[in-house]
Amino acid sequence: DTGLPLDMIIFGGMGDLAMRKLLPALYMAHLHGNLPPGTRIISTGRQEFGRDAYLAFVEEHSRSFISGGNFTEEAWRSFLQLLEFVRVDVQQDGLAALARVSRPGAERVFYLATAPSLFTTICGKLAEAGLVDANARVVLEKPLGRDLASAVEINEAVGKHFAESQIYRIDHYLGKETVQNLMVLRFGNSILEPLWRAPNISSVQITVAEDVGVGSRAGFYDSAGAMRDMVQNHLLQLLCIVAMEPPASLAPDAVRDEKLKVLRSLRRFSLAGIARDTVRGQYVRGVSGNQEVAGYLEERNVPADSSTETFVALRTYVDTWRWSKVPFYLRTGKRMQRRSSKIVVEFANPPFPLFPESPGGVANRLVIELQPEEAIKLQVMAKQPGSGMRMQQVALNLDLQSAFPQRRAEAYERLLIDVVRGRLTHFMRRDELEAAWEWVEPIINGWSTLAEKPYPYAAGTSGPSESFALLARDGFSWAE
Ligand code: BG6
Repeated sequence: DTGLPLDMIIFGGMGDLAMRKLLPALYMAHLHGNLPPGTRIISTGRQEFGRDAYLAFVEEHSRSFISGGNFTEEAWRSFLQLLEFVRVDVQQDGLAALARVSRPGAERVFYLATAPSLFTTICGKLAEAGLVDANARVVLEKPLGRDLASAVEINEAVGKHFAESQIYRIDHYLGKETVQNLMVLRFGNSILEPLWRAPNISSVQITVAEDVGVGSRAGFYDSAGAMRDMVQNHLLQLLCIVAMEPPASLAPDAVRDEKLKVLRSLRRFSLAGIARDTVRGQYVRGVSGNQEVAGYLEERNVPADSSTETFVALRTYVDTWRWSKVPFYLRTGKRMQRRSSKIVVEFANPPFPLFPESPGGVANRLVIELQPEEAIKLQVMAKQPGSGMRMQQVALNLDLQSAFPQRRAEAYERLLIDVVRGRLTHFMRRDELEAAWEWVEPIINGWSTLAEKPYPYAAGTSGPSESFALLARDGFSWAE
């Protein structure tokens, strides 16, 4: 804590992210006393707005994203007091107007919630206006590039004006409670670590399934697809936390060094490997939550012949001694049966089946459910009561809800507080981002070389059957 007043400056202050996530998260931080006294939030946008018009806009577009129990009229009023609005078209104007509003000597956080194509311009103009000093921090929202070259370009441009220690690359999955808890589960306990390796672990599955479709974001999404939108960042970050070696400390670089090693150890795909070990899907008309919903190609702003994937499943390997020959299966998709994200660590079966009444079956799985509910379960075999020796799988359930009945902060709230306090551990370092792209880019290129269409799957289902075949081939199955 520097004791300086904080100016939180949001570029894209009228955008979707600001309305749905950032302002509600800042409201919550304010409500719980997690913003330094004297904080101001300065939103910028192109609209010819005065402060009052902006506050009315926030009232209309943001307030409803604060979950019921947390809303009080009084806290909301005092939150609105913190808000300022500066009209600026960053493509046309300099940032003198912003420099007049931001207090001299304030600690400044610049949140770039704009299209990444504006990052270079904004950073340059911030420097020009004398707004970047040693206390300044910049927060970068995804998508951070669409391939390695564009990611490098963004990093170079931002790096001209900000030191790496001032740059906060957000992956909001790193702000989720259960994801942070996974670090504690692995490294705050000693019982798991000796087992946490080949050959004790036979496979790892990471699923992030969404029930929603592309919504109003087709303009962005169609040029990205599930690989860039979800796998490159969220799923790979989850994989890193599952697979990383114990860091020497929780210092940002100690943790990020270990994650980087995982990314660099991911096996590179050959073209044959892409054809064999990746599955792309695209949803077609179907039933989601009792309602008939459109297929991807029928969504607004999606070209009728788009071959963008809304689903990906793949098998990969982390080529280290710890993970030798252990398949990692990743899967994500939109318009799937239900919203459900989980990590499943499957342990090796006993060396031979001792109980003839119950042949086969998966013995042990550690299931870490991220959403919609947070849960950690260890599946073990137990004897069914009665005569005979019939086995059944039961779950040792860590009941986190009743162990910790207190409120869970949302990912954005937690990460914004980290930014305010200068804690970098849960943000991506430049080399991590680039290593992730280095692995992802050849897969995307391979798909375009192979020129196959994604497999169709009906909205409201669990994706194309080919993704089940991908695991069945190795004797595994997706945990439902
Ligand atoms: C975003 C993606 O990063 O994550 C969206 O751009 C996706 O497409 C979202 O819907 C999922 O986040 P969450 O927290 O709802 O799982």
